[in-house]
Amino acid sequence: MTPHTIQLDQHGRLKHFLTTEGLNRQTLTSILDYAESFAGVSGRAVKKVPLLRGKTVANLFFESSTRTRTTFELAAKRLSADVLNINIATSATNKGETLQDTLHTLEAMHCDMFVVRHGNSGAAHFIAGQVAENVHVINAGDGRHAHPTQAMLDMFTIRRHKPDFESLRVAIVGDIAHSRVARSEIHALNILGVSDIRVIAPKTLIPDNIESLGVRVFHDLTEGLQDVDVIAMLRLQRERIKNAVLPSEEEYFRCFGLTGTRLRVAKPDVIVMHPGPINRGIEIDSQVADGDRSVILQQVSHGIAIRMAVMAMVMGAAPDSSGGDN
Ligand code: NCD
Repeated sequence: MTPHTIQLDQHGRLKHFLTTEGLNRQTLTSILDYAESFAGVSGRAVKKVPLLRGKTVANLFFESSTRTRTTFELAAKRLSADVLNINIATSATNKGETLQDTLHTLEAMHCDMFVVRHGNSGAAHFIAGQVAENVHVINAGDGRHAHPTQAMLDMFTIRRHKPDFESLRVAIVGDIAHSRVARSEIHALNILGVSDIRVIAPKTLIPDNIESLGVRVFHDLTEGLQDVDVIAMLRLQRERIKNAVLPSEEEYFRCFGLTGTRLRVAKPDVIVMHPGPINRGIEIDSQVADGDRSVILQQVSHGIAIRMAVMAMVMGAAPDSSGGDN
């Protein structure tokens, strides 16, 4: 089964959240709407709702992460779930235990949900295929394949500033080849009806056939940024770049770094996003990262509301978790 069929139950409800690919507009819109209802919880004196009281969520992070892991943890706690953070680097997996044995051990502790980050593409899908019927899996990033909650928090951030997706011009800039964020964003933007999606990168950082995903490719930053409403920057994923021929970091910044001058060709009310961690002076200038068009810190806050919404939906705790997918 492909990740987008395994993630739905027979009624078309989200059971796991593994990828944005293959979902319909109604499902994505209901995630955004539901997250909107949680956005206020973080500002309350008591930052909790009881939707997942008595449930146990295990954060399984095989790869390092700061904001994704901590915002998943906060989201689960704000839904009143109990949270286990399993640091795989120090767990029994390191003593030779297989992934399956680790999972079954955790299941024997009656975990209701696994939030999984793994360096291999397809890992979350594999785990979703292994767990018991009543256990739910959320992909927190697998290799270069997908990072669906990041894409949804980006869609949430865009909608907060620019609610009419169909009229938007969106540019995704940087290391597209190694980016799970770019893939999940491209699927989500297409599903939500954005007709002008651009990817901007050097030739060596663009995967073959990317046009088949419904994007236009640019190798010149100034040309690609012309009149865009949204710029989604990506980190240069140096840990995943093996054979790609890359210019030096200075050269990369000179050609593809987002600076105040470059920003001027975009719409005056453009928003600048970045999933973090940011490499200042490599893909983005500090003046832009900290400037008035940047929504980078808003993205972090929105991540909590989106993750609360997705967790409640897959657990069937949302008022109507059905997006009508088939
Ligand atoms: C992204 C990731 O890990 O895929 N970051 C994140 O989740 N906040 C992007 C990146 O690491 O560059």
